[in-house]
Amino acid sequence: MNKIKMLNPIVELDGDEMTRILWQKIKDVLILPYVDLKSEYYDLGLPERERTKDQVTIDAANAIKKYGVGVKCATITPNAQRVEEYKLSQMWKSPNGTVRSILDGTVFRAPILVDGIKPLVSNWNKPITIARHAYGDVYAGVEAYVPEGGKVYISLPNGEQKLIKDLPSAGIIQAMHNTDKSISSFARSCFNYAVSTKQDLWFSSKDTISKIYDHRFKDIFQEIYQNEYKDKFEALGIEYFYTLIDDAVARVMRSSGGYIWACKNYDGDVMSDMLATSFGSLAMMTSVLVSPEGNYEFEAAHGTVTRHYYKHLKGEETSTNSVATIFAWTGALAKRGQLDGLDDLVEFAHKLEKATLDTIESGTMTKDLVGLFHKDGVEAKGVNSFAFLEAIAQRL
Ligand SMILES: NC(=O)c1ccc[n+]([C@@H]2O[C@H](COP(=O)([O-])OP(=O)(O)OC[C@H]3O[C@@H](n4cnc5c(N)ncnc54)[C@H](O)[C@@H]3O)[C@@H](O)[C@H]2O)c1
Repeated sequence: MNKIKMLNPIVELDGDEMTRILWQKIKDVLILPYVDLKSEYYDLGLPERERTKDQVTIDAANAIKKYGVGVKCATITPNAQRVEEYKLSQMWKSPNGTVRSILDGTVFRAPILVDGIKPLVSNWNKPITIARHAYGDVYAGVEAYVPEGGKVYISLPNGEQKLIKDLPSAGIIQAMHNTDKSISSFARSCFNYAVSTKQDLWFSSKDTISKIYDHRFKDIFQEIYQNEYKDKFEALGIEYFYTLIDDAVARVMRSSGGYIWACKNYDGDVMSDMLATSFGSLAMMTSVLVSPEGNYEFEAAHGTVTRHYYKHLKGEETSTNSVATIFAWTGALAKRGQLDGLDDLVEFAHKLEKATLDTIESGTMTKDLVGLFHKDGVEAKGVNSFAFLEAIAQRL
């Protein structure tokens, strides 16, 4: 069989534990037999991050900037226990944080929908993608407890002193910030992603109450939309609109899905967990980092599934869900194909996604999904990690 040819590489970021085992198997069984894969490989497994003093993570992020498309396996973010376990010289930073700060991107998370696994909100029959601004606000806040009460001010660089409150007795205060640059990057990433996926974009905040802070977000989004994206949106027949966060929540609950919901940092933190819960499983959530320049890094939203890895090392059978990792690969292959004008690569990516969903919908799935699956006439059968991949391969 002739394998599909590629023109430019995908940047491949390998990872840790059970997801690293699945990573290799997904390539061997589902990709390499069909695609003459061009990838530039970076090993972000913790031992290699330690050996290179984390330079490998920085190199990988710069390679994504160069080639435009990356795919990442889940990685360990070290804590004290991991420093001990892997004999690390330092508690290396989260690779996702490092990549995000180099690409200056926004993370979009979307559920993978399967016929037979119903969201708790029954009218959500298309995915809802959350775009969370991952900079500033309350996450970089400065707080104080003022036991004695009294006048508390913010002092501005122009010498102005703004009274926050003359506290009559003990109380708490908080100051937070954001920057025009970060908000603009967030806005451009959201508009680019909406154009790339041909979906409407909603943005919500509380500008009626926060007349300067949240209003600045609203104005920046509107200005960038008007000057840079309005024509593209109109040509695609998609829509951008701004609404208050409380109105957005009401509309989201009544909607059938199929759009991107851009949220400020705290709103995105809370709302993405609500969506993931309603759509069923963390193992069925994709995640893509999009930079304002239009670079893409695809990954699964879950971690390295440590508990399964230790079972695997003991020679025990595991049933680890590989769907989100497969969809990270298909996302990257389709994007590469789209950028390079390779229709056969795009088609292959869609075929692999369909084969994965068809496998589950016909009753073969990993054990985490068995209890969630209800479809008339189909009995759910839980299989092991590798049998699931082999079952998908039979449909390709
Ligand atoms: N994006 C990333 O690279 C990323 C994200 C989260 C956590 N992590 C890392 O992963 C490691 C484990 O963290 P954790 O346990 O908090 O998160 P995890 O996502 O690996 O596991 C959380 C829970 O969900 C289950 N689960 C997750 N994915 C599954 C799958 N594909 N199939 C079946 N069950 C699945 C696990 O068994 C566990 O009970 C940590 O070292 C953490 O730093 C990495």
